[in-house]
Amino acid sequence: MSAEKSLLLCRVSDLEPGSVKRVDRADGPALAVYNVEGSFYATDDCCTHGLSSLSEGQLDGELIECSMHFGGFDVRTGKAVLAPCSIDLKTYPVEVRGDEVYALMGEE
Ligand code: FES
Repeated sequence: MSAEKSLLLCRVSDLEPGSVKRVDRADGPALAVYNVEGSFYATDDCCTHGLSSLSEGQLDGELIECSMHFGGFDVRTGKAVLAPCSIDLKTYPVEVRGDEVYALMGEE
């Protein structure tokens, strides 16, 4: 049986367009949630290049730039688009329910 788990990331009103926020969770790595012009996206928070928190980076449109070595990812797809990052980032489907933003975590 599929047991899709959803994780509350934030409220729509908590995250302004152009902002990113870290979401810690008890049972796995932290996530980052992004508001790109009113659309929400979620990825792992840890950069695939090193141990840096992407939520401390700079969100420019759909590009999150890591604050450590300035590599970057497309937050919509997780694709590594700026060197030195070369390994894509894990992304999670996002669902907005009323004022709440959830990541669908799949089966864990
Ligand atoms: S740790 Fe993110 S670019 Fe190096």
